[in-house]
Amino acid sequence: MGNQESLTGDRIDIGLGVNIDHVATLRQARGTRYPDPLQAAFVVQDAGANGITVHLREDRRHIRDDDVQRLSASLLIPMNLEMAATSEMLAIASRIKPEECCLVPERREELTTEGGLNAADKIPLLRDYSASLTATGTRVSLFIDPEPRQVEAAAEIGAPIIELHTGAYADSTSRGQRRDELQRLQEAAMLAHTLGLQVNAGHGLNYVNVDDVAAVSQIKILNIGHAIVARAVIHGLSRAVMDMKQLMQQARRENRKGF
Ligand code: PXP
Repeated sequence: MGNQESLTGDRIDIGLGVNIDHVATLRQARGTRYPDPLQAAFVVQDAGANGITVHLREDRRHIRDDDVQRLSASLLIPMNLEMAATSEMLAIASRIKPEECCLVPERREELTTEGGLNAADKIPLLRDYSASLTATGTRVSLFIDPEPRQVEAAAEIGAPIIELHTGAYADSTSRGQRRDELQRLQEAAMLAHTLGLQVNAGHGLNYVNVDDVAAVSQIKILNIGHAIVARAVIHGLSRAVMDMKQLMQQARRENRKGF
């Protein structure tokens, strides 16, 4: 996902990585085989996304091992695998070899990734883990809060990429808070860029709040999931209803007698 060229060879200033976890959430809600994240990924890819992001959680609540395997075998754009820094995930990443692995903190009971990694307090551990992951051929990204000490820790750990957690910005409840959170993101992005890190960002971004973050010139990729999948549901509903009605009416017209 570090590539600054689109599939058509155009130069791009900012890329979009689409997180398709919630396509799998919908599938898991009914235990069906659809909607298939791979099929969704093809649509996302054709629409011009610069990467596909999936989070293989310890509890496999949405994306499953098999999804990651199939995506890796079929995608033409880079895959960013979000994962906890565990030995199980290291083994999976070394087998699947995604272009990027983003290390995130994970707690079973959380609804979504609630905070950034506390990289500053785990430098030796994350340095070793990142080195092992890098040796498998993937580019390591650390999902951190926009704090100078976390950015500096990421550089010390040796990860080439950081993803700045935009959740506090997205959850701001006043203009003043949003301005302050944006400033924290801008300063963290600038510091990371100065330290030679690739800067990505994401979490909680939507069609209303994305503009100010997208304008931060050091940010290379925004990873966005929930808002895009939610919009797809709303925009796709009328077509889905029409398709179903058409099938029903056709069956009635043909006066089907069943088997
Ligand atoms: N980046 C990271 C590291 C995440 O954990 C998530 C959520 O899975 C996202 C980006 C996307 O967040 P959202 O679904 O709120 O757009």
